Amino acid sequence: MSPGPVLTVDGKPTDHLDDEKPTVIDYPETADLPAVHQIATPLKPLGDHVPAKGVRAPVVVPKDRGLAADPNLPNLFPSGNSEIKRTDLTPSLGTLISGLQLSKLTDKQKDELALLVAHRGVVFFRDQDITTQQQRDLFDYYGIPETDPDPESGKPVTTTIQEQEEDFRNTYVHFKWPFADFHADSSFQANPPSFSMLRVVELPPTGGDTNWISGYGTYETLSKPLQQFVDGLKAWHSSELLYDSVLNHWGVKPGDRPVETLHPVVTTHPVTGYKVLNLNSGFVRRIDGLNRFESDRLLDLLYTHIHTAQDQLVRFRWEKNSVAFWDNRAVTHRATHDYAPLNRRGVRVTIKGQVPVHVPDSVSRKEALAKVLKEGKVQAVHNANLREGDYRGREAQIPVDL
Ligand SMILES: [Fe+2]
Repeated sequence: MSPGPVLTVDGKPTDHLDDEKPTVIDYPETADLPAVHQIATPLKPLGDHVPAKGVRAPVVVPKDRGLAADPNLPNLFPSGNSEIKRTDLTPSLGTLISGLQLSKLTDKQKDELALLVAHRGVVFFRDQDITTQQQRDLFDYYGIPETDPDPESGKPVTTTIQEQEEDFRNTYVHFKWPFADFHADSSFQANPPSFSMLRVVELPPTGGDTNWISGYGTYETLSKPLQQFVDGLKAWHSSELLYDSVLNHWGVKPGDRPVETLHPVVTTHPVTGYKVLNLNSGFVRRIDGLNRFESDRLLDLLYTHIHTAQDQLVRFRWEKNSVAFWDNRAVTHRATHDYAPLNRRGVRVTIKGQVPVHVPDSVSRKEALAKVLKEGKVQAVHNANLREGDYRGREAQIPVDL
């Protein structure tokens, strides 16, 4: 039998979550799961409401479907089929697929799509006929559905994205959660989501674009000394500000206790093996082990790096029935709130990802692709420039040991 979590309050063992004080929860390493270090933060006054679910313990998720896929994507893009087109929107991330309905994918196509999403971070589709139920069914194929931490949307596995009808600067002035900033969905969970899929069903004539930033790219474009420094660090991802926001602003009583969870600052993607800068200003509050001054300055530096990385960003203009399918383990995203007083509405499904880990001898995407080019093992899953050989002339300029 595997050992259960160890709970402590003020350094003393306990057998239940304390309502008034932080409860430290240590899930020990097992054969299936890495160790997880988490803090259940004190409960806020909630009148007679008691959050029902407590905290979510780490779970083992099914093996990623992308690992079963052929990296040359022969089922997704069959040779001789001129209807299905792939357009890479930037060299780093974002691919648009046309001529394909998500409602009609075969299992092999689903696997290859999962692999493509892991590599390209986000894949877009337009004019989709997929229903909400079919969207759920597709994600059931990929893994365990994730629910949102408020009971309204926490019941079904589908979250409806309904935006505010006022300028967000006025609406969000009363709380500190940087709602409109880059984030990976629910990164504060022990099992942060892997895939998310958003289908937009109602939107203004213009506005409401979404931006994604590549975590592969923001890691590989750091200098080697800074890469080495951040490689060994961990950061606290917190749901506390989200909890306050849900409670104080939306008037919805949260179903989960607020938590802070320690995750590596540099994670190794479980499918591609590339290193990812696993930070997002939406939920990360501090770097573990640094003093407050150091942590704030380092996060300022890294967030500036992320926010200015135009070469690692893709911006998508939605149309009715457009779909974005992204990998929260490889990208962060941010909505553009520029269309008040109009509204937009979408349906999002999400699945639980693995407990994030840092594999010390893993490499950046740039290093991995340099090796791929050197060995002539370019596969269709890589970006269009690699497939078409635009990088080949530069091979000598991409040192493997950056
Ligand atoms: Fe999101």
